[in-house]
Amino acid sequence: MTFDRKIRIAPSILSADFADFGREIRAIEAEGADWVHVDVMDGHFVPNLTFGPPAVKAFRPHVTTFMDVHLMIAPVDAYIEAYAEAGADMITAHVEAGPHPHRTLQAIRATGKKAGIALNPGTPLEAVDYLLDLCDMVLVMTVNPGFGGQKFIHSQIDKIARLRGMIGDRPIHIQVDGGIDPKTAPLVAKAGADVLVAGSAVFRGGSVDRQQVYGENIRAIRAAATL
Ligand code: DX5
Ligand code: ZN
Repeated sequence: MTFDRKIRIAPSILSADFADFGREIRAIEAEGADWVHVDVMDGHFVPNLTFGPPAVKAFRPHVTTFMDVHLMIAPVDAYIEAYAEAGADMITAHVEAGPHPHRTLQAIRATGKKAGIALNPGTPLEAVDYLLDLCDMVLVMTVNPGFGGQKFIHSQIDKIARLRGMIGDRPIHIQVDGGIDPKTAPLVAKAGADVLVAGSAVFRGGSVDRQQVYGENIRAIRAAATL
């Protein structure tokens, strides 16, 4: 994957039909998804439980774009290899997941996968000051992680803009996740975000049998972000 800052839309399959992931993934890709975002939750770091490595491995053959795995788990280091082997293309860990995020990023890089670091809304940007050179992406959470369908937290726009300045020319994506829809997409894109995760705003109103709705939703977010 060559680096550029064009807007990418990464639907979160947290909002998909849990009984039909293969078809859901194929539907969003056919309708223009750039990446497939997989939210891994452990019921401890966040108050919800989702996908272990075997589930992610089962998604893999259906993904032809790029599988972006967001780990909301603590501790995280012990599971990195398993998610890498399951077929993640990018593994993102939270800076709050433990005392050694630097070691975590080294461990992700050691698997040969792209490495991301995520910040909760309450975490200051300074937490990534000394981590950026180990990162392919920084994820600025625009909701408190754990659930889809929450309200966008506006204070994070300033964090995105300051992060964009910190990154400068370095080939590091800025991802946003939580409450992204055609209303909030232009705000984060203008501040400097280039990878937009969206769950409810992509899957809303559609289904595998009405997948053109996914396409309309993806195009509406992309158009709003590229205005
Ligand atoms: C939140 C997850 C998100 C979530 C986004 O914990 O990391 O990826 O699915 O959902 P929406 O777009 O509905 O806010
Ligand atoms: Zn996520």
